[in-house]
Amino acid sequence: MSARSLRRLLVAGAAGFIGSNFVRLIRATRPDVQVTVLDKLTYAGNLANLVEFEGQPGYRFVHGDICDAAIVDSLAAEADAIVNFAAETHVDRSLMDPFAFIETDVRGTAVLCEAARKHRHEVFLLVSTDEVYGDVASGRSREDDGFKPRSPYSASKAGGEHLARAYAESFGLPLLVTRGSNNYGPYQYPEKLIPVLITNAIDDLPLPLYHDGSAVRDYVYVEDHCRAIDMVLHEAPIGEVFNVGTGVETSGLQVAEAVLEIVGKPKSLIEFVADRPGHDYRYALDITRVTELGWEPRTSLAEGLARTVNWYIEHPEWWRPLKSGEYWEYYKRNYRPLKSTGEAGLPRGAPSK
Ligand code: NAD
Ligand code: TYD
Repeated sequence: MSARSLRRLLVAGAAGFIGSNFVRLIRATRPDVQVTVLDKLTYAGNLANLVEFEGQPGYRFVHGDICDAAIVDSLAAEADAIVNFAAETHVDRSLMDPFAFIETDVRGTAVLCEAARKHRHEVFLLVSTDEVYGDVASGRSREDDGFKPRSPYSASKAGGEHLARAYAESFGLPLLVTRGSNNYGPYQYPEKLIPVLITNAIDDLPLPLYHDGSAVRDYVYVEDHCRAIDMVLHEAPIGEVFNVGTGVETSGLQVAEAVLEIVGKPKSLIEFVADRPGHDYRYALDITRVTELGWEPRTSLAEGLARTVNWYIEHPEWWRPLKSGEYWEYYKRNYRPLKSTGEAGLPRGAPSK
Protein backbone atom coordinates (compact mmCIF):
# COMPACT_ATOMS: atom_id res chain seq x y z
CA MET A 1 0.00 0.00 0.00
CA SER A 2 1.39 3.41 -0.91
CA ALA A 3 2.14 5.55 2.12
CA ARG A 4 0.83 9.09 2.41
CA SER A 5 3.46 11.78 2.91
CA LEU A 6 2.29 14.42 5.39
CA ARG A 7 4.81 17.19 6.06
CA ARG A 8 2.97 19.39 8.59
CA LEU A 9 0.82 17.88 11.34
CA LEU A 10 -1.46 19.77 13.69
CA VAL A 11 -1.87 17.54 16.73
CA ALA A 12 -4.62 18.71 19.07
CA GLY A 13 -4.64 17.63 22.70
CA ALA A 14 -1.08 16.32 22.67
CA ALA A 15 -0.19 17.63 26.14
CA GLY A 16 -2.29 14.75 27.47
CA PHE A 17 -1.47 11.07 27.85
CA ILE A 18 -1.90 9.46 24.43
CA GLY A 19 -1.17 12.57 22.35
CA SER A 20 2.20 13.15 24.03
CA ASN A 21 3.14 9.51 23.44
CA PHE A 22 2.08 9.95 19.81
CA VAL A 23 4.29 13.04 19.39
CA ARG A 24 7.19 11.02 20.91
CA LEU A 25 6.63 8.32 18.29
CA ILE A 26 6.39 10.80 15.40
CA ARG A 27 9.50 12.75 16.46
CA ALA A 28 11.46 9.49 16.72
CA THR A 29 10.26 7.87 13.49
CA ARG A 30 9.49 10.85 11.23
CA PRO A 31 11.96 13.58 12.25
CA ASP A 32 11.31 15.64 9.10
CA VAL A 33 7.62 16.10 9.86
CA GLN A 34 6.71 19.47 11.37
CA VAL A 35 4.57 19.02 14.47
CA THR A 36 2.38 21.76 15.94
CA VAL A 37 0.63 20.89 19.20
CA LEU A 38 -2.54 22.79 20.14
CA ASP A 39 -3.66 22.18 23.72
CA LYS A 40 -5.84 24.01 26.23
CA LEU A 41 -3.85 22.62 29.19
CA THR A 42 -6.85 21.49 31.22
CA TYR A 43 -6.17 19.63 34.48
CA ALA A 44 -5.24 16.65 32.24
CA GLY A 45 -2.85 18.58 29.99
CA ASN A 46 0.73 18.84 31.20
CA LEU A 47 3.68 20.55 29.52
CA ALA A 48 5.98 18.19 31.41
CA ASN A 49 4.75 15.49 28.97
CA LEU A 50 6.31 17.40 26.06
CA VAL A 51 9.31 19.09 27.69
CA GLU A 52 11.87 17.03 25.75
CA PHE A 53 10.71 18.60 22.44
CA GLU A 54 10.86 22.24 23.51
CA GLY A 55 13.19 24.26 21.30
CA GLN A 56 13.58 21.48 18.73
CA PRO A 57 13.37 22.58 15.08
CA GLY A 58 10.11 21.39 13.53
CA TYR A 59 8.21 21.39 16.83
CA ARG A 60 6.06 24.05 18.41
CA PHE A 61 3.50 24.22 21.19
CA VAL A 62 0.49 26.54 21.02
CA HIS A 63 -1.66 27.08 24.11
CA GLY A 64 -5.28 27.27 22.96
CA ASP A 65 -8.74 25.76 22.79
CA ILE A 66 -10.04 23.64 19.88
CA CYS A 67 -13.36 25.48 20.31
CA ASP A 68 -11.62 28.76 19.38
CA ALA A 69 -12.30 28.97 15.63
CA ALA A 70 -9.82 31.81 15.03
CA ILE A 71 -6.81 30.05 16.50
CA VAL A 72 -7.76 26.71 14.94
CA ASP A 73 -8.17 28.37 11.52
CA SER A 74 -4.78 30.08 11.67
CA LEU A 75 -2.99 26.85 12.63
CA ALA A 76 -4.92 24.74 10.12
CA ALA A 77 -3.81 27.13 7.37
CA GLU A 78 -0.24 25.93 8.00
CA ALA A 79 -0.96 22.18 8.21
CA ASP A 80 -1.62 19.25 5.84
CA ALA A 81 -3.51 17.18 8.38
CA ILE A 82 -5.05 17.28 11.85
CA VAL A 83 -4.89 14.45 14.37
CA ASN A 84 -7.37 15.14 17.14
CA PHE A 85 -6.67 13.79 20.63
CA ALA A 86 -8.19 16.82 22.39
CA ALA A 87 -11.12 15.81 24.58
CA GLU A 88 -12.48 15.63 28.05
CA THR A 89 -11.83 11.95 28.67
CA HIS A 90 -12.81 10.65 32.08
CA VAL A 91 -16.20 8.93 32.49
CA ASP A 92 -16.46 9.69 36.22
CA ARG A 93 -15.87 13.42 35.62
CA SER A 94 -18.46 13.35 32.82
CA LEU A 95 -21.02 12.29 35.42
CA MET A 96 -20.18 15.43 37.41
CA ASP A 97 -19.93 17.97 34.56
CA PRO A 98 -21.42 16.71 31.25
CA PHE A 99 -21.33 20.10 29.51
CA ALA A 100 -17.53 20.39 29.50
CA PHE A 101 -17.57 17.13 27.49
CA ILE A 102 -20.24 18.30 25.06
CA GLU A 103 -18.35 21.54 24.46
CA THR A 104 -14.95 20.03 23.68
CA ASP A 105 -15.75 16.56 22.37
CA VAL A 106 -18.66 17.62 20.13
CA ARG A 107 -18.34 21.34 19.34
CA GLY A 108 -14.53 21.37 19.43
CA THR A 109 -14.41 18.44 17.00
CA ALA A 110 -16.74 20.34 14.65
CA VAL A 111 -14.51 23.44 14.78
CA LEU A 112 -11.53 21.31 13.77
CA CYS A 113 -13.52 19.67 10.94
CA GLU A 114 -14.54 23.07 9.61
CA ALA A 115 -10.92 24.29 9.49
CA ALA A 116 -9.67 21.06 7.89
CA ARG A 117 -12.35 21.36 5.23
CA LYS A 118 -11.64 25.04 4.55
CA HIS A 119 -7.90 24.49 4.17
CA ARG A 120 -8.34 21.35 2.06
CA HIS A 121 -6.34 19.06 4.32
CA GLU A 122 -5.20 15.65 3.13
CA VAL A 123 -6.45 13.86 6.25
CA PHE A 124 -8.54 14.52 9.34
CA LEU A 125 -7.90 11.76 11.89
CA LEU A 126 -10.29 11.60 14.81
CA VAL A 127 -9.07 9.59 17.77
CA SER A 128 -12.23 7.99 19.09
CA THR A 129 -13.00 5.21 21.54
CA ASP A 130 -14.53 1.75 21.88
CA GLU A 131 -16.93 3.32 24.40
CA VAL A 132 -19.15 4.63 21.57
CA TYR A 133 -20.45 1.05 21.13
CA GLY A 134 -21.67 1.01 24.73
CA ASP A 135 -21.79 -2.00 27.02
CA VAL A 136 -21.36 -5.22 25.01
CA ALA A 137 -22.76 -8.19 26.91
CA SER A 138 -21.55 -10.76 24.37
CA GLY A 139 -19.68 -10.90 21.09
CA ARG A 140 -17.32 -8.24 19.80
CA SER A 141 -17.98 -4.80 18.36
CA ARG A 142 -17.26 -4.34 14.68
CA GLU A 143 -16.70 -1.00 13.00
CA ASP A 144 -20.12 -1.03 11.30
CA ASP A 145 -22.04 -1.65 14.54
CA GLY A 146 -24.33 1.11 15.77
CA PHE A 147 -23.51 3.45 18.63
CA LYS A 148 -25.09 2.88 22.05
CA PRO A 149 -23.18 5.25 24.33
CA ARG A 150 -24.29 5.24 27.96
CA SER A 151 -22.24 7.99 29.65
CA PRO A 152 -21.93 11.71 28.91
CA TYR A 153 -18.30 10.99 27.91
CA SER A 154 -19.10 8.26 25.39
CA ALA A 155 -22.17 10.12 24.10
CA SER A 156 -20.01 13.20 23.49
CA LYS A 157 -17.36 11.16 21.68
CA ALA A 158 -20.13 9.57 19.59
CA GLY A 159 -21.49 13.06 18.85
CA GLY A 160 -18.06 14.22 17.69
CA GLU A 161 -17.82 11.19 15.43
CA HIS A 162 -21.26 11.83 13.96
CA LEU A 163 -20.30 15.42 13.13
CA ALA A 164 -17.01 14.38 11.56
CA ARG A 165 -18.86 11.77 9.47
CA ALA A 166 -21.39 14.43 8.43
CA TYR A 167 -18.49 16.65 7.28
CA ALA A 168 -17.10 13.72 5.31
CA GLU A 169 -20.42 12.91 3.64
CA SER A 170 -21.58 16.49 3.05
CA PHE A 171 -18.34 18.33 2.36
CA GLY A 172 -15.81 15.65 1.44
CA LEU A 173 -13.75 15.89 4.63
CA PRO A 174 -10.97 13.25 4.25
CA LEU A 175 -11.87 11.46 7.46
CA LEU A 176 -10.17 8.58 9.24
CA VAL A 177 -11.33 7.32 12.64
CA THR A 178 -9.64 5.08 15.20
CA ARG A 179 -11.66 3.56 18.04
CA GLY A 180 -9.14 2.60 20.67
CA SER A 181 -9.72 0.47 23.73
CA ASN A 182 -8.39 1.35 27.23
CA ASN A 183 -4.85 2.68 26.99
CA TYR A 184 -2.26 2.47 29.77
CA GLY A 185 1.41 3.38 30.05
CA PRO A 186 3.69 6.30 30.99
CA TYR A 187 2.24 9.82 31.44
CA GLN A 188 -1.35 8.73 32.18
CA TYR A 189 -3.07 11.12 34.59
CA PRO A 190 -3.80 9.23 37.84
CA GLU A 191 -7.59 9.24 37.58
CA LYS A 192 -7.98 6.31 35.16
CA LEU A 193 -7.96 2.80 36.63
CA ILE A 194 -4.38 1.66 36.07
CA PRO A 195 -2.49 4.78 37.26
CA VAL A 196 -4.88 5.06 40.26
CA LEU A 197 -4.02 1.48 41.19
CA ILE A 198 -0.28 1.91 40.66
CA THR A 199 0.17 5.22 42.49
CA ASN A 200 -2.06 4.11 45.38
CA ALA A 201 -0.17 0.81 45.66
CA ILE A 202 3.16 2.67 45.81
CA ASP A 203 1.78 4.79 48.69
CA ASP A 204 0.06 1.89 50.54
CA LEU A 205 -3.34 3.48 49.90
CA PRO A 206 -6.43 1.36 49.17
CA LEU A 207 -6.97 0.31 45.55
CA PRO A 208 -10.62 1.27 44.81
CA LEU A 209 -12.58 -1.12 42.59
CA TYR A 210 -16.18 -0.31 41.69
CA HIS A 211 -18.74 -2.85 42.94
CA ASP A 212 -16.95 -6.22 42.70
CA GLY A 213 -14.13 -5.41 40.26
CA SER A 214 -15.66 -7.69 37.62
CA ALA A 215 -16.05 -5.15 34.78
CA VAL A 216 -13.79 -6.06 31.86
CA ARG A 217 -11.83 -3.91 29.47
CA ASP A 218 -9.34 -4.50 26.65
CA TYR A 219 -6.14 -2.85 27.93
CA VAL A 220 -3.79 -1.77 25.14
CA TYR A 221 -0.29 -0.41 25.76
CA VAL A 222 -0.14 3.22 24.68
CA GLU A 223 2.84 2.79 22.33
CA ASP A 224 0.95 0.07 20.47
CA HIS A 225 -2.10 2.33 20.13
CA CYS A 226 0.09 5.18 18.85
CA ARG A 227 1.68 2.90 16.24
CA ALA A 228 -1.81 2.03 15.03
CA ILE A 229 -2.79 5.70 14.77
CA ASP A 230 0.42 6.40 12.83
CA MET A 231 -0.32 3.51 10.47
CA VAL A 232 -3.92 4.55 9.88
CA LEU A 233 -2.86 8.18 9.35
CA HIS A 234 -0.29 7.29 6.71
CA GLU A 235 -1.63 4.13 5.08
CA ALA A 236 -5.36 3.63 5.49
CA PRO A 237 -7.84 4.38 2.71
CA ILE A 238 -9.65 7.65 3.39
CA GLY A 239 -13.10 7.21 4.90
CA GLU A 240 -12.35 4.11 6.98
CA VAL A 241 -12.79 3.41 10.68
CA PHE A 242 -10.53 1.11 12.70
CA ASN A 243 -10.99 -0.57 16.07
CA VAL A 244 -7.68 -0.68 17.93
CA GLY A 245 -7.24 -3.09 20.84
CA THR A 246 -5.67 -6.42 21.79
CA GLY A 247 -8.70 -8.70 21.82
CA VAL A 248 -7.81 -9.73 25.40
CA GLU A 249 -10.36 -9.17 28.19
CA THR A 250 -9.19 -8.38 31.72
CA SER A 251 -11.25 -7.54 34.81
CA GLY A 252 -10.44 -4.69 37.14
CA LEU A 253 -9.77 -7.22 39.90
CA GLN A 254 -7.22 -9.04 37.73
CA VAL A 255 -5.46 -5.75 36.96
CA ALA A 256 -5.39 -4.76 40.66
CA GLU A 257 -3.94 -8.13 41.67
CA ALA A 258 -1.29 -7.92 38.95
CA VAL A 259 -0.28 -4.40 40.02
CA LEU A 260 0.00 -5.45 43.69
CA GLU A 261 2.12 -8.44 42.67
CA ILE A 262 4.53 -6.23 40.70
CA VAL A 263 4.74 -3.52 43.39
CA GLY A 264 5.07 -6.20 46.12
CA LYS A 265 2.11 -5.07 48.21
CA PRO A 266 -0.64 -7.21 49.86
CA LYS A 267 -3.99 -7.99 48.24
CA SER A 268 -5.66 -6.61 51.38
CA LEU A 269 -5.11 -3.13 49.86
CA ILE A 270 -7.97 -3.84 47.42
CA GLU A 271 -11.15 -2.04 48.49
CA PHE A 272 -14.49 -2.53 46.76
CA VAL A 273 -16.38 0.77 46.60
CA ALA A 274 -19.81 1.93 45.44
CA ASP A 275 -20.38 1.35 41.73
CA ARG A 276 -20.12 3.97 38.99
CA PRO A 277 -23.64 4.98 37.88
CA GLY A 278 -24.41 3.48 34.47
CA HIS A 279 -21.20 1.41 34.62
CA ASP A 280 -20.44 -0.33 31.31
CA TYR A 281 -19.40 -3.83 32.39
CA ARG A 282 -17.82 -4.98 29.15
CA TYR A 283 -16.18 -3.54 26.06
CA ALA A 284 -14.80 -5.96 23.48
CA LEU A 285 -13.46 -5.17 20.03
CA ASP A 286 -13.14 -7.15 16.84
CA ILE A 287 -9.70 -6.02 15.58
CA THR A 288 -9.72 -7.86 12.25
CA ARG A 289 -9.75 -4.70 10.14
CA VAL A 290 -6.69 -3.03 11.71
CA THR A 291 -4.72 -6.28 11.66
CA GLU A 292 -5.50 -6.59 7.94
CA LEU A 293 -3.97 -3.11 7.55
CA GLY A 294 -0.76 -4.61 8.99
CA TRP A 295 -0.88 -3.61 12.68
CA GLU A 296 -0.73 -5.90 15.67
CA PRO A 297 -0.22 -5.26 19.37
CA ARG A 298 3.35 -6.04 20.47
CA THR A 299 3.10 -5.62 24.24
CA SER A 300 1.33 -8.15 26.48
CA LEU A 301 -0.51 -6.80 29.52
CA ALA A 302 2.00 -8.51 31.85
CA GLU A 303 4.95 -6.84 30.09
CA GLY A 304 3.23 -3.47 29.67
CA LEU A 305 2.08 -3.37 33.30
CA ALA A 306 5.59 -4.15 34.55
CA ARG A 307 7.01 -1.35 32.36
CA THR A 308 4.30 1.06 33.47
CA VAL A 309 4.71 0.29 37.19
CA ASN A 310 8.47 0.83 36.86
CA TRP A 311 7.90 4.13 35.07
CA TYR A 312 5.68 5.43 37.90
CA ILE A 313 8.18 4.18 40.53
CA GLU A 314 10.99 5.99 38.69
CA HIS A 315 9.04 9.23 38.02
CA PRO A 316 7.44 10.38 41.29
CA GLU A 317 8.32 13.96 40.30
CA TRP A 318 5.84 13.59 37.42
CA TRP A 319 2.79 12.26 39.31
CA ARG A 320 3.16 13.37 42.93
CA PRO A 321 2.39 17.05 42.15
CA LEU A 322 -0.75 15.94 40.29
CA LYS A 323 -2.14 14.17 43.38
CA SER A 324 -2.87 17.28 45.41
CA GLY A 325 -5.52 19.97 45.85
CA GLU A 326 -8.22 19.62 43.19
CA TYR A 327 -7.31 15.98 42.67
CA TRP A 328 -8.31 14.99 46.19
CA GLU A 329 -11.45 17.12 45.96
CA TYR A 330 -12.43 15.10 42.91
CA TYR A 331 -11.38 11.85 44.59
CA LYS A 332 -13.55 12.49 47.64
CA ARG A 333 -16.54 13.37 45.48
CA ASN A 334 -16.10 10.32 43.29
CA TYR A 335 -15.47 7.42 45.64
CA ARG A 336 -18.11 6.19 48.06
CA PRO A 337 -18.17 3.20 50.40
CA LEU A 338 -19.63 -0.01 48.95
CA LYS A 339 -22.49 -0.14 51.42
CA SER A 340 -24.13 3.16 52.16
CA THR A 341 -23.56 4.05 55.79
CA GLY A 342 -25.72 7.15 55.54
CA GLU A 343 -22.66 9.32 56.00
CA ALA A 344 -20.55 10.88 53.27
CA GLY A 345 -17.86 8.31 53.97
CA LEU A 346 -14.60 8.03 52.12
CA PRO A 347 -12.74 4.95 51.10
CA ARG A 348 -9.90 4.31 53.51
CA GLY A 349 -6.82 6.31 52.65
CA ALA A 350 -8.21 9.46 51.04
CA PRO A 351 -6.83 12.38 53.04
CA SER A 352 -9.51 13.56 55.47
CA LYS A 353 -8.56 17.25 55.37
P1 NAD B 1 -6.12 13.08 28.39
O1 NAD B 1 -7.29 13.44 29.23
O2 NAD B 1 -4.88 12.54 29.02
O3 NAD B 1 -5.67 14.34 27.51
C1 NAD B 1 -6.59 15.16 26.85
C2 NAD B 1 -5.83 16.40 26.36
O4 NAD B 1 -6.74 17.23 25.65
C3 NAD B 1 -5.23 17.23 27.49
O5 NAD B 1 -3.91 17.62 27.18
C4 NAD B 1 -6.15 18.46 27.54
O6 NAD B 1 -5.50 19.63 28.01
C5 NAD B 1 -6.55 18.57 26.08
N1 NAD B 1 -7.81 19.30 25.90
C6 NAD B 1 -8.99 19.10 26.55
N2 NAD B 1 -9.91 19.97 26.11
C7 NAD B 1 -9.31 20.73 25.15
C8 NAD B 1 -9.75 21.79 24.31
N3 NAD B 1 -11.01 22.25 24.40
N4 NAD B 1 -8.89 22.32 23.43
C9 NAD B 1 -7.60 21.87 23.38
N5 NAD B 1 -7.13 20.87 24.14
C10 NAD B 1 -7.98 20.31 25.02
O7 NAD B 1 -6.69 12.06 27.30
P2 NAD B 1 -6.05 10.76 26.64
O8 NAD B 1 -6.29 9.61 27.51
O9 NAD B 1 -4.68 11.08 26.18
O10 NAD B 1 -7.02 10.59 25.38
C11 NAD B 1 -6.73 11.25 24.15
C12 NAD B 1 -7.81 10.92 23.14
O11 NAD B 1 -7.91 9.52 22.96
C13 NAD B 1 -9.21 11.40 23.56
O12 NAD B 1 -9.87 11.90 22.43
C14 NAD B 1 -9.88 10.13 24.06
O13 NAD B 1 -11.29 10.19 23.89
C15 NAD B 1 -9.24 9.09 23.18
N6 NAD B 1 -9.15 7.74 23.75
C16 NAD B 1 -8.62 7.57 24.99
C17 NAD B 1 -8.50 6.27 25.50
C18 NAD B 1 -7.88 6.01 26.86
O14 NAD B 1 -7.89 4.86 27.32
N7 NAD B 1 -7.30 6.99 27.54
C19 NAD B 1 -8.93 5.18 24.74
C20 NAD B 1 -9.46 5.41 23.46
C21 NAD B 1 -9.56 6.70 22.98
P1 TYD C 1 -11.46 3.80 33.50
O1 TYD C 1 -9.97 3.72 33.60
O2 TYD C 1 -12.17 4.95 34.09
O3 TYD C 1 -11.82 3.64 31.96
P2 TYD C 1 -13.28 3.49 31.25
O4 TYD C 1 -13.46 4.80 30.56
O5 TYD C 1 -13.11 2.34 30.32
O6 TYD C 1 -14.32 3.22 32.25
O7 TYD C 1 -12.08 2.49 34.17
C1 TYD C 1 -11.73 1.20 33.70
C2 TYD C 1 -12.55 0.18 34.48
O8 TYD C 1 -12.15 0.17 35.85
C3 TYD C 1 -14.03 0.45 34.51
O9 TYD C 1 -14.74 -0.79 34.54
C4 TYD C 1 -14.25 1.19 35.81
C5 TYD C 1 -13.22 0.56 36.70
N1 TYD C 1 -12.63 1.45 37.74
C6 TYD C 1 -12.56 1.02 39.06
O10 TYD C 1 -13.01 -0.10 39.40
N2 TYD C 1 -11.98 1.84 39.98
C7 TYD C 1 -11.50 3.06 39.66
O11 TYD C 1 -10.98 3.78 40.55
C8 TYD C 1 -11.57 3.50 38.30
C9 TYD C 1 -11.03 4.84 37.90
C10 TYD C 1 -12.14 2.66 37.37
